[in-house]
Amino acid sequence: MLFDKLPDRVTVYEVGPRDGLQNEARKVPTADKIALVDALSDTGLPCIEISSFVSPKWIPQLADAKEVASSIARRPGVRYSALVPNRRGLDDAVSVGMGEVAVFLSASETHNKRNVNKGIAETLEAFDKVVGPATSRGMRVRAYVSTVFGCPFEGEVSAESAVHLAKTLRAMGVYQVSLGDTIGVANPQQVERVLARVLTEVPAETVAVHFHDTQGTALANCMVALTLGITTIDAAVGGLGGCPYAPGAAGNLATEDAVSMLHSMGVDTGVDLEKLVDCSRLASSLIGRDLPSKYLKAHLGKQARERRQKERAEGAGGG
Ligand code: HMG
Ligand code: MG
Repeated sequence: MLFDKLPDRVTVYEVGPRDGLQNEARKVPTADKIALVDALSDTGLPCIEISSFVSPKWIPQLADAKEVASSIARRPGVRYSALVPNRRGLDDAVSVGMGEVAVFLSASETHNKRNVNKGIAETLEAFDKVVGPATSRGMRVRAYVSTVFGCPFEGEVSAESAVHLAKTLRAMGVYQVSLGDTIGVANPQQVERVLARVLTEVPAETVAVHFHDTQGTALANCMVALTLGITTIDAAVGGLGGCPYAPGAAGNLATEDAVSMLHSMGVDTGVDLEKLVDCSRLASSLIGRDLPSKYLKAHLGKQARERRQKERAEGAGGG
């Protein structure tokens, strides 16, 4: 049976406070970001990406990364991470006690230039000043490869680009490469094809997947990755997310959608779904709009129905 190959446990890598809030028109106050990270820390999530140490001119929404990193209540057993594009970002991350950072680049040249103002080769060169120095300090370094399954500027992207970058990044010393469907155009068949190729060159335990849910395929794509031996999936609470330098990029796979599906199949995540839903409601109130998570909508709908039933029953009893 196809799904006999599912892992017993999946690591859910929460990227909402970073990937989510970087794309919001409304700037979320620092104290609210801290409250969101602290609430997420209490759900059992093992990894939380809290912000980015990038240029505030490029991502003004996350200009308070240092304050956030300095003020969150770090919970033992939870790994906190942040994006860094260069040595300046790494130095800032070190100054506020980050134990894990993530470098990022794209599988397509044009998106890479739009996102970090450099070509792919030059970006890899700049990583030399980040990955080695970080790992020699005992930090863990993750890497993202964006636009693996499609680029907003170039369209289709060759799987060979992801293969080459995954191998190069692993050789540099990153512990995991997260393959990103930045604009949410991947389908399960393509995911199988690309991952099968990548996994001939790097082991599955060093690969994660990062699906945006623009066209509703993120969960299906995750299922394919899990059956191929991948055990880390990125997700954002409530389905927050998007890349400001990728037109059309919508939110990430919603964390609670993934966790609820995995739990219903007997796959453990260590995450308390009720607490996660509370985080989603908090995120929604902080950004002032409804979030796309399906599980959240179903959960809120069920609660409203139960409330109405109770009110009717009380009304009938009292009348
Ligand atoms: P640049 O303009 O080429 O760099 O930007 P620069 O070295 O000329 O510096 C420009 C200014 O930024 C200078 O300040 C620097 O000091 C400052 P000025 O002298 O003009 O006042 N600066 C910094 N400030 C704070 N922290 C730093 C830093 N570095 C330089 N680390 C740069 C190059 C890489 C800095 C810029 O392009 C940048 O910050 N880009 C970030 C883009 C970004 O964060 N995009 C979203 C994340 S990627 C994503 O969402 C995809 C992902 O989710 C996966 C997926 O979905 O596929 C990960
Ligand atoms: Mg993303």
